[in-house]
Amino acid sequence: MRKPVTVRVPAKVNVQLAVGGVRPDGFHELVSVFLAVGLYDEVTATPADTLRITATGLDTDRVPLGRTNLAARAAQLLAARHGIAPDVHLHLAKGIPVAGGMAGGSADAAGALMACNGLWGTGASRDGLLSLAAELGSDVPFPLAGGAALGRGRGELLTPLEVSGTLCWVFALADGGLPTPAVYAEFDRLREGQAVPAPRASPLLLGALRTGDAAALAPALSNDLQAAALSLRPCLAATLAAGTAAGALAALVCGSGPTTAFLTRDAASATAVCAALLASGTCCTARAASGPVPGAHIVAHRPA
Ligand code: C5P
Repeated sequence: MRKPVTVRVPAKVNVQLAVGGVRPDGFHELVSVFLAVGLYDEVTATPADTLRITATGLDTDRVPLGRTNLAARAAQLLAARHGIAPDVHLHLAKGIPVAGGMAGGSADAAGALMACNGLWGTGASRDGLLSLAAELGSDVPFPLAGGAALGRGRGELLTPLEVSGTLCWVFALADGGLPTPAVYAEFDRLREGQAVPAPRASPLLLGALRTGDAAALAPALSNDLQAAALSLRPCLAATLAAGTAAGALAALVCGSGPTTAFLTRDAASATAVCAALLASGTCCTARAASGPVPGAHIVAHRPA
């Protein structure tokens, strides 16, 4: 009997998300600057007679546990490519907000690919896993890669980026999620009739990441989906304001939201901003986390 495999996978924040026009396949052309941060899901793959999923931790009442869960789809895709049955018990220990704009579902899919590859001995290479990840979703390759990366296309074509030092963040979790397609639809509605420039990476932002200068990075942070997320969830404006008033260098919505991100000067400032956000009553909870951190990695062959 093979031993269970556990993979730890980080969340992401988009420090820049530039959204361009709608492509013929319905996806938006993106330039996305991803940073992997220290909020994690752990995916454990255990031998089983059939495919099943369980979950514990943050917001698990909102995690779908059927075969449509992206992690289950990842296991099915890997198994199909190797001509084997997708028999596995996947356990998701959730620390990343569900439908929060931090790619939690994508992280689980990335973790499932790596954990099943280890469990089944299918021997897919890193590049092989990255290409399966891109088939599963726009945000699935990045949690495998980790660190920082420039994403192009629909976000799945990654180029690694150098970042000096560590950036200290606080993430405020909102009540309930926001479905990504609904946020993109609201983005299109708000932009109707306007000319759409091709998305471009900000040289200022890339320079600030290279030097690890949080003060220079703060004014360069941007998210084209923020207005759409705020339009669908206006109360997020109060969360953004509370973190800024507490001393954050900058505040923005994470991806399609509704999690909000606060860049801080250092770890001490992150602790203070986290406490102030918790006390503000404008969010469910808040967590300090830094980045960049490494991508998905096997942490143990151990019982689930
Ligand atoms: O690729 P993924 O399945 O994560 O995308 C979820 C949804 O987000 C898509 O169905 C689409 O509505 C929207 N999306 C988009 N353009 C992108 C990425 C996602 O419109 N580049």
